[in-house]
Amino acid sequence: MHRMKSATAIRSTKLPSGEEVPVLGLGTWHLAEGRRRRQDEIKALRLGLDLGMNLIDTAEMYADGEAEELVGEAIAGRRESVFLVTKVLPHHATRQGTIAACEHSLKRLKTDWIDLYLLHWREEIPLSETVEGFQELIDSERIRYWGVSNFDVSDMAELFEIEGGANVTTDQVLYNITRRGIEFDLVPWCRERNIPIMAYSPIEQGRLVLHLSFGTSQNNTRPLPPKWRLPGCFARMESSRSRNRELWSMCVKIAPPSTCSLADVIST
Ligand SMILES: NC(=O)c1ccc[n+]([C@@H]2O[C@H](COP(=O)([O-])OP(=O)(O)OC[C@H]3O[C@@H](n4cnc5c(N)ncnc54)[C@H](OP(=O)(O)O)[C@@H]3O)[C@@H](O)[C@H]2O)c1
Repeated sequence: MHRMKSATAIRSTKLPSGEEVPVLGLGTWHLAEGRRRRQDEIKALRLGLDLGMNLIDTAEMYADGEAEELVGEAIAGRRESVFLVTKVLPHHATRQGTIAACEHSLKRLKTDWIDLYLLHWREEIPLSETVEGFQELIDSERIRYWGVSNFDVSDMAELFEIEGGANVTTDQVLYNITRRGIEFDLVPWCRERNIPIMAYSPIEQGRLVLHLSFGTSQNNTRPLPPKWRLPGCFARMESSRSRNRELWSMCVKIAPPSTCSLADVIST
């Protein structure tokens, strides 16, 4: 079994196993949805890897498997430096279905192993079946870790009741400075059990940066009024001033001024 080799300059966090993974990764939802941008998308992923963002998140669902194909092309020749995350669709997640879906993902990704394999979200198939499938994939070294996505506290508690369920490595959930609901329950629950949470849509699918733009003084941005200003930060002042104010005050609370950058806010 191969291991991730390259060190990254990006801050890292620890999986329950003790292995470190970068706190920022490259998402691939909506990639590979057309041929026209394909080469640009591959270049973007490769540039991210060059810059040390060596965690890539994809899913069999994205572009009906085409996103995995694209990731496979982007990581060709550098697989060992990538921490690869992909996901099984809930309606495939029986014991045998999970194994079959993983085999298909491996083919599309052109690799022998997946670093972290997630159940994309929960549906009717009993969790015990999925966990059995994950365990078999671990035993045969086709995946290194497994986890879940879009699980709330009650789903996690149920998972923990199942044999092997406490081996879950992460819960990937919606989380950003405008979507902080998980801080009330899921975050403390996972923290108590040493399970790292993986945030998706960290910039609210782009809506957040349409309001705020950090560390830049491009034409369409201007400095914030002094009372909201952090060193080196500018914000687009758009029609919704109250929204800007609300977002900015959240950023100030989350990111200490000395480290303020969009990446810092996302990963704080
Ligand atoms: N487990 C799940 O259920 C789940 C759900 C959602 C997402 N995810 C994962 O998490 C990843 C990230 O989440 P996400 O893609 O939903 O949202 P996100 O990372 O919050 O935002 C991505 C969007 O932001 C836009 N964007 C980036 N920089 C921008 C800028 N400076 N100004 C304006 N727009 C900008 C991008 O537009 P362009 O495309 O034009 O660059 C893209 O559409 C996904 O790619 C996927 O891997 C998982």
